[in-house]
Amino acid sequence: MGKQRIIYVCTSCGNRSMKWQGRCGQCGEWNTFVEKADEAPAKSPAAVPVSEAVPITEVSKAAQERVKTGIGEFDRVLGGGMVSGSAVLLGGDPGIGKSTLLLQVCAALSQADRRTLYVSCEESLQQLRLRADRLGITRSSLFVLAENSLDGITGRIEESRPIAAVVDSVQMTYSDALPSPAGSIGQVRFCAAELVRLAKKTGIPIFIVGHVTKEGAIAGPKLIEHIVDTVLYFEGERFQAFRLLRATKNRFGSVNEVGVFEMTDTGLVGVENPSRLFLSEEMRAAGSAVLACVEGTRAFLVEVQALLTKSTYGTPERKVSGVDRNRLSMLLAVLERRARKPVDAVDVFVNVVGGVKIQEPAADLPVCLAICSSLSDRALPEGTVAFGELGLGGEVRGVYHSEMRIQEARKLGFKRIVLPRANARSRVPDLHPVSHISEALALLG
Ligand code: TYD
Ligand code: MG
Repeated sequence: MGKQRIIYVCTSCGNRSMKWQGRCGQCGEWNTFVEKADEAPAKSPAAVPVSEAVPITEVSKAAQERVKTGIGEFDRVLGGGMVSGSAVLLGGDPGIGKSTLLLQVCAALSQADRRTLYVSCEESLQQLRLRADRLGITRSSLFVLAENSLDGITGRIEESRPIAAVVDSVQMTYSDALPSPAGSIGQVRFCAAELVRLAKKTGIPIFIVGHVTKEGAIAGPKLIEHIVDTVLYFEGERFQAFRLLRATKNRFGSVNEVGVFEMTDTGLVGVENPSRLFLSEEMRAAGSAVLACVEGTRAFLVEVQALLTKSTYGTPERKVSGVDRNRLSMLLAVLERRARKPVDAVDVFVNVVGGVKIQEPAADLPVCLAICSSLSDRALPEGTVAFGELGLGGEVRGVYHSEMRIQEARKLGFKRIVLPRANARSRVPDLHPVSHISEALALLG
């Protein structure tokens, strides 16, 4: 019998090396190599079965079977319900509500003959029970399991054959096959890959929770985005009640959908009419403008506020919440040069109500209106809503989905819709098409 070989394995990513290394060449971590006895690799079978390639036109068009979870906002983001055998990653900051959402999803799915399995690697069964009580969950077909070991989890899922399973979270799951601790790059990758394989093998949809982490020893959900079918992110400000669920990758649906939820004392509640959430009570004040924005296939209205004050320091301050700071700098330059507004030397604060983050350029027009309204200390005419992108020449450019924006504004009783001329196809009294920023500012008198 030959002498057993010793190899070195990185405890962070599982990289193997014949020599000890101070720094892992694969993941870049320092001091992570440990000695390990090398196991003889499993003999590969003599004849490996080879799959046949077939013409794409001969592939059967079996429709993906979807099951609605019954939580409308969640189904919408999944693309109309969950698909059998799919692996879905739910990422988000700690404390944002991932566990709450998935426990509610399991409860909604479980019925007399349909069991769901919620595996918690972080909380005890008593904690889960407390949460379930708070959420008013009384379904006895919702099974819970407190388990960290990957083998224990996969074994239980395979044996109990639920209609859907949740593993919360991938960073607390570990496999004995790797020497590294739970949460390391190697463990997270390995455990996620095994769960995806299990979903494919059994046809059971598996939801995997991944905490977004700051740079550090714990690997984040980005690491496994490429191996799952669908990636969802749950976002929102921790101290604000509303939450947005976004799909950033979806093999079975669109990635443009968002689900809107509100965190209440008794769990997450879907918000069908988000506009109500993002409009403040008192919109007739100077410095306030309303944007008709679009996320996915739905439009909603949000209020943008601006406050301009005399600058006390040499360099004026620009503070933003919910809009891009660089974009604001550009808009201020356009206002100064193209509309002759003295905004260069004043402090500017811009805020989007409700903690929403606006990324689309359609916000340019309402942001400028809010700024100029604060500058002149005059409120916009009652019932005004705006959208439109601004160019460096002060021109107002058309944006996508103008019809949806107009409809949402009308639905909520807004009577004056300021929009790019390119988007105003018909002459209707409530539409105010503009082609230059100064035309829009004329509204302020
Ligand atoms: P949780 O689902 O544990 O977050 P995550 O799994 O993403 O870490 O949610 C935690 C927060 O949600 C917690 O601060 C309390 C709050 N919460 C409510 O406001 N209402 C509720 O009904 C529940 C269950 C939680
Ligand atoms: Mg949790």
